[in-house]
Amino acid sequence: MAQLPVKKKRQPPVSLPADPECCVRFPGVVLCLVEKKMGLSRKAFLATLAQRKGFCVEEASSERVTHVVSEGNSGGEVVEWLKRKSSPCMEAVGHGVALLDLSWFTESMSAGRPVEIEPRHRLQVAAHAKELEGQCQVSAYACQRRTPLEHNHQMLTEALEILAEEAHFWGSEGRSLAFSRAASVLKSLPWTVRKIQDLKSLPCIGEHSRRVIQEILEDGVSSEVEKIRQSERYQTMKLFTKIFGVGVKTASRWHQEGLRTLADLQAHHTKLSKEQQAGLLHYEDLSTPVTFSEAEAIGQLVRDVVEQCLPGASVTLTGGFRRGKQSGHDVDLLLTHPVDGQEIGLLGKVIAQMDRQGFLLYHSIHRNTFQSFEDEAQEIRDSTTSMDHFERCFSIFCLGCFPGGIPGSASEARRPNNTEQVSGTTGSWKAVRVDLVVTPCSQFPFALLGWTGSQNFERDLRRFSKHEKKMTLNSHALYDKGKRTFLTAASEEEIFNHLDLEYIPPEERNA
Ligand code: CTP
Ligand code: MN
Ligand code: MN
Repeated sequence: MAQLPVKKKRQPPVSLPADPECCVRFPGVVLCLVEKKMGLSRKAFLATLAQRKGFCVEEASSERVTHVVSEGNSGGEVVEWLKRKSSPCMEAVGHGVALLDLSWFTESMSAGRPVEIEPRHRLQVAAHAKELEGQCQVSAYACQRRTPLEHNHQMLTEALEILAEEAHFWGSEGRSLAFSRAASVLKSLPWTVRKIQDLKSLPCIGEHSRRVIQEILEDGVSSEVEKIRQSERYQTMKLFTKIFGVGVKTASRWHQEGLRTLADLQAHHTKLSKEQQAGLLHYEDLSTPVTFSEAEAIGQLVRDVVEQCLPGASVTLTGGFRRGKQSGHDVDLLLTHPVDGQEIGLLGKVIAQMDRQGFLLYHSIHRNTFQSFEDEAQEIRDSTTSMDHFERCFSIFCLGCFPGGIPGSASEARRPNNTEQVSGTTGSWKAVRVDLVVTPCSQFPFALLGWTGSQNFERDLRRFSKHEKKMTLNSHALYDKGKRTFLTAASEEEIFNHLDLEYIPPEERNA
């Protein structure tokens, strides 16, 4: 015999039965009494008392509740209780809904009005908020975190990044990465670290980083970081590695040879590559940040030349500017054509044309380093490096030069021109570092993802692919080692999809 369906218990009404003799005297205050630990009969007694005094009392399911009152519970326990009841108050705890101890209630009852809420009345909302944040696990992979440009930990990340840089200057890449990862995690937090215990639930923050963070939280500065900042080697390494074409090894050798300034490099007739000579010549301009409007002006200049060379080809601004940065150290541009193969030879033509017009102060083209498609497939299948093989050009542009006017040296008279408002200084041109990369259309989403950065984001995308998905990702393709196939994608979103990652837009890749 079929059983009769069990009749569902009726939901209690939202409002507690109001005493007919009471009227609401404080319409802005709606109490909710937490029966947990208090018990139902005491709750009913207190509710009647409050209603007699002109207070409105409702259940946790009401959206109108402003004051949640409990007895003998911690903030965390009340939040848990509200959550279990699916109370709409949950969302507004801390802003609009107050979690209060019974002391506020009894004082209000004897005053005959809602007394002002003092800190001692509040259940620890801040502590509770931290608990909640702790529960939202922060991923150890930057590609599973949203990292906007602006964040709450400028002082801490600056210090950690100096430690990362210093380690890099000594060739300690592992240590450098550890500091850089710690900084990256802090950049992604939507809340603020105020005490060392706040780091408890965070990944990638090692002992050393923790020590430095603690020092800064307590004293405002880290003595270790300050010592590095002041050190002669750090300052010299910073100066030298900012020269275009100079890496850590060269800078370190120069420092060991006793060289300290740019003038020293010239005076000692230090052997410089063509790239480094150009870097030194335009040092001042190249160490001045490129603005977004300068980047756009250069993008347009390249777009015009590209259109002349290969109609239908496109130019996309990538790198830091695509992530929303307002300034950067260079301009990264990605060139492609909607028909695969049409892009071959484009870079040479574009560079030759711009050189003729006098827009280039320096350039060096690197050919596509793949010999054949088979080579390419092989390399991607096995690859663990982040190097890619696109045809590319590292260059220095003359922004604001007259077409045809090639300035000979930085000391040469600066020419007035029609884009002077872009470079900011009247009648001047400015040397700007530009990276041009050409990609076949079928690889464009991979190249776009690979060249948008940040470096931390890219590194973790590859690490995640390898360790969590058994796939190889680089700026050309995504290879599934288990299925032994290349996964195609027509957009960045599809690549995230293949990796089972939530899509993160460029503005939130500032890891
Ligand atoms: N990149 C790369 N191969 C290179 C150089 C750079 O794949 N040989 C990638 C980097 O991983 C980064 C992006 O290109 O994701 C941009 O690099 P870069 O211009 O150095 O950094 P930005 O993030 O643009 O920083 P900035 O604003 O200072 O230029
Ligand atoms: Mn860049
Ligand atoms: Mn670049």
